[in-house]
Amino acid sequence: MVRDYHEFLGEVLVSEEDLQARVAELGREISRDFEGKELLLVCILRGGVLFLTDLMRHISVPHAIEFMAVSSYGTGARESTGQARITLDVNTDIRDRHVILVEDIVDSGHTLASVLELLSMRKPASLAVCTLLDKAERREVEVPILYRGFEIPNKFVFGYGLDIDEFYRNLPFIGVVDLQKYDGNAE
Ligand code: PRP
Ligand code: MN
Ligand code: MG
Repeated sequence: MVRDYHEFLGEVLVSEEDLQARVAELGREISRDFEGKELLLVCILRGGVLFLTDLMRHISVPHAIEFMAVSSYGTGARESTGQARITLDVNTDIRDRHVILVEDIVDSGHTLASVLELLSMRKPASLAVCTLLDKAERREVEVPILYRGFEIPNKFVFGYGLDIDEFYRNLPFIGVVDLQKYDGNAE
């Protein structure tokens, strides 16, 4: 059974209000940087979805959206495996396009490193990373991050696109899981 998140919420790390304010700021920053250009926002499924849809409402330059899927955690896993597998590719030619990758979180960096390696071979006009969360102390491979919402500590977080065993992505805030409470009540 999927339980009520109140049973294992340790703390709210980023409130809905702070999230929305920062997302709007990032949208304005991107709009300024790409004024007079057209963008292609590439969202990494599934975690990046909520961030993308809120972010694009604050981007005033013309932009198309695309999706990629990369699997690194696997269902049930709590930590990155360090192996990123691309399971869905973009459906469009990105050559000479201004591409921004939209992610919910950069952890070890393996997911984005794999995507960046693949997309850069296709000669986009520019290729940048926009991540809502940056768990910098966990980095194993370097990832150039141009737009960053929040740097966060090494805690297991959920909500606003980030799942626990695939659920709770719909929550409007970023919460920290109290793992003792979560595992202690697991069936
Ligand atoms: C999570 C998260 C990032 C990635 C970050 O995705 O959404 O995409 O892991 O980890 P890394 O920097 O160590 O590679 P996940 O693989 O859990 O898939 P999901 O987005 O479908 O939840
Ligand atoms: Mn993801
Ligand atoms: Mg996940």
